Amino acid sequence: MKVAVLGAAGGIGQPLSLLLKNSPLVSALACYDLAPHTPGVAKDLSHIETAATVTGHVGPEQLEDSLKGCSLVIIPAGMPRKPGMTRDDLFNVNAKITVSLASAVASACPEALLAIITNPVNSVVPIAAEVLKKAGVYDPRRLFGVSTLDIVRANTFVAERKGLDVTTVNVPVIGGHSGVTILPLLSQVTPETSFTDEEVEQLTTRIQTAGTEVVQAKAGAGSATLSTAFSAARFGISLLKAKGGASDVVECAYVESSVTDAAFFATPVRLGPNGLEENLGMGELSAFERAKLNDEVMPALKANIAKGLEFAKANL
Ligand code: 2OP
Repeated sequence: MKVAVLGAAGGIGQPLSLLLKNSPLVSALACYDLAPHTPGVAKDLSHIETAATVTGHVGPEQLEDSLKGCSLVIIPAGMPRKPGMTRDDLFNVNAKITVSLASAVASACPEALLAIITNPVNSVVPIAAEVLKKAGVYDPRRLFGVSTLDIVRANTFVAERKGLDVTTVNVPVIGGHSGVTILPLLSQVTPETSFTDEEVEQLTTRIQTAGTEVVQAKAGAGSATLSTAFSAARFGISLLKAKGGASDVVECAYVESSVTDAAFFATPVRLGPNGLEENLGMGELSAFERAKLNDEVMPALKANIAKGLEFAKANL
């Protein structure tokens, strides 16, 4: 299956492309970016002794070529955060990037699965949906905001805190991918694990602010790239496995949803050959989680979605 990475020469794009080149499910990897060294990134990857062929594509005139025949397009393109910035501060620049890349996907590979990492995910995914709708090719089963990093972080932090084998831990994370919209469901952790109220408070806050932890530690050099790439590769490979016929592939993702009254919402979803096969919903929440959902997640997430839709209305 052919996969395109849009933004392949950047901090997330390079390690993401490396991880995809290492997957036996990828037969062709198209690396697209505006940066002039993109062909060099592709050349570098092409020397790796795995089956995927690698091509480099630079600038808008080569975008369509990178997309033709793709089963999956992953978009990490965009400006990252610097200390003191929220994901929402990236809105203006990254919303425009999303429009141009989603438009190209709509015309060059309208059947492809589209996974968006570009921040603010909560707002740009609704924009991408509007772009695809306008082009008449929107299928909500094929559009995903990648929130896997929140699950990856939650698994790591819970395993550390409780002394568990991290490879066995799964923490569902619902809502969105920004600040208080990130809601880890510690009441649904597998294997079944109990937490004190203090642990729940502390772990929830740490999972919600983990991206900022990295932004501060990188001290001006950007936001999380390696863990983001790992997470996006995990999600992309799950999409490819399901597309190839594997059964019972479940990931959390930010998708068009009727689980709440927010038009987009992250929950565990079952993936299949056409993308989203079944939304598994949020299950039973604890009183703490229910209060967070109602008081914090929903108002912030709805505002993020509305901002994306207003931008789409004014600019498409
Ligand atoms: C993060 O959570 C970059 O949004 C990404 O760190």
